[in-house]
Amino acid sequence: MNCDRHISFDALNDFSEMSFLLSIEGKILAANKSALTSLGKPGTELLDKQFISLLNPAHILKIENAIIKCISEREKVEIDCKFMRDGRGDIDAQCYFSVFSNGEKTSDKILIIAKDVTEEKQKELDLLRFYNVAHHTVNPLQITDLSGRMIYVNPAFVKMSGYKEEELLGHTPSLLNSGRHSKKFWDEMWHTISDGKVWVGEVANRKKNGEVVHTQLLISPIMKSEGGLLGYFGIHRDLTEKKNLEKQLIHTQKMESIGTLAAGVAHEVGNPLASISALVQIIQRSTEEVFIKEKLELVKKQITRISKIIRDLVDFSRPSNYELKLTDVNANLRESVEIVRVGKKAKDIEFVSDLDESIEPLHLVSDQLQQVFVNILINGVDAIVEKKGVTKEDYTGKIHIKTQCVNGNIQIIFYDNGPGVSEEHSMKIFEPFFTTKKEGKGTGLGLWVSYGIVKSFQGDIKVGTSPMGGAEFVINLPTNPVY
Ligand SMILES: Nc1ncnc2c1ncn2[C@@H]1O[C@H](COP(=O)(O)OP(=O)(O)O)[C@@H](O)[C@H]1O
Ligand SMILES: [Mg+2]
Repeated sequence: MNCDRHISFDALNDFSEMSFLLSIEGKILAANKSALTSLGKPGTELLDKQFISLLNPAHILKIENAIIKCISEREKVEIDCKFMRDGRGDIDAQCYFSVFSNGEKTSDKILIIAKDVTEEKQKELDLLRFYNVAHHTVNPLQITDLSGRMIYVNPAFVKMSGYKEEELLGHTPSLLNSGRHSKKFWDEMWHTISDGKVWVGEVANRKKNGEVVHTQLLISPIMKSEGGLLGYFGIHRDLTEKKNLEKQLIHTQKMESIGTLAAGVAHEVGNPLASISALVQIIQRSTEEVFIKEKLELVKKQITRISKIIRDLVDFSRPSNYELKLTDVNANLRESVEIVRVGKKAKDIEFVSDLDESIEPLHLVSDQLQQVFVNILINGVDAIVEKKGVTKEDYTGKIHIKTQCVNGNIQIIFYDNGPGVSEEHSMKIFEPFFTTKKEGKGTGLGLWVSYGIVKSFQGDIKVGTSPMGGAEFVINLPTNPVY
């Protein structure tokens, strides 16, 4: 190598950044120690090679332009590029190009100082990846500073809370406090996380619209690399679905266990009752005394009432003993309406049917289905009569019956303009013995039995509010039940 060329370049030998001296054609005239070791090319291997041959081909054009600009405009040019290495990862570098002149224009050279920024780039990339994961995850996520004020929330958190991002940032998550947890609960949480430990718990948050969302919340302290706390990171897992399923499961289990219990009781009571009934008839026949005959008649009436309750109880627990046959749901409904319509109480009530004639017949126990329909219709009549008793103005009771096919299920809807079922009662009305009727008027078994029958057909029955303000009962029956 010509001494002239690198008298001053030698000064860069101990310089920690990679340094190269190029001819204006882009040939490497000299490279410092750092460049040789970083690129894994010791000795004179790099000399007289084209500088661009060291680089990722994608960056070649950029480098050529930088060299031209540097020479023609005689100013420093800064660009990012990637050095390739055999067997080892590429080096991300920030390169500074400048003219290295020894006075005569013809002997211009180019000095390149390349700063290794691989680690920074990697960190940047990691951060970007982390940001993307955090931003796009379906789990609501929040980052708070040490005082608990939110400094980052992801879109899932914004969605869960119902607030806008700008309404959340700068506030503490207590903005979503549902008031369902004690001060002790939150104190313990703070105690754990400010101690640098992870806290996990189930929380109930209140959305902006007042709805409560149940989530499992994990809060992890964010530590500085040199120790000490920087803030907190909280991630939620939505439990609403799980809670609803749990509620339903508890309800179903409750109904089932009461069913088993009731069937047992009914059996135990049924036999002695049959003996009592037989005895009453014997005594009635063998006495001439009017007083006794009359009283025994009353006893018989009471026995009939108890028998009916027992029959209902037994019905609930043995629906599958009956014969399944193809049943026309619409025809069954029409018959049920006829049965109920003849009742004295139903005299002034309007029954409106809107039946989808294209629905398929279903494999089920026709009598039981009719029992369900009649129960619901009679309840509607009772509810309307009760409302009539308290309403002063003119009021015509109406019961609508509708059938339709929804997602392969057959849906039967009954809705009326009676007083409706309150939210508080809507979970209870399917329970046995729940009735709002006067003693002797209702047994509270009608809907319970109906529930059992519909479940045995693998369907479901729900109560809601009718478009006319009264009650609405929706029954869904699958067209292809698996028995
Ligand atoms: N259409 C309706 N409108 C208002 N309340 C109803 C309606 N149907 C049922 N209910 C409520 O559900 C309760 C339970 O009904 P059910 O199980 O048939 O028992 P019962 O008719 O013997 O009271 C009723 O007492 C009533 O409070
Ligand atoms: Mg009833």
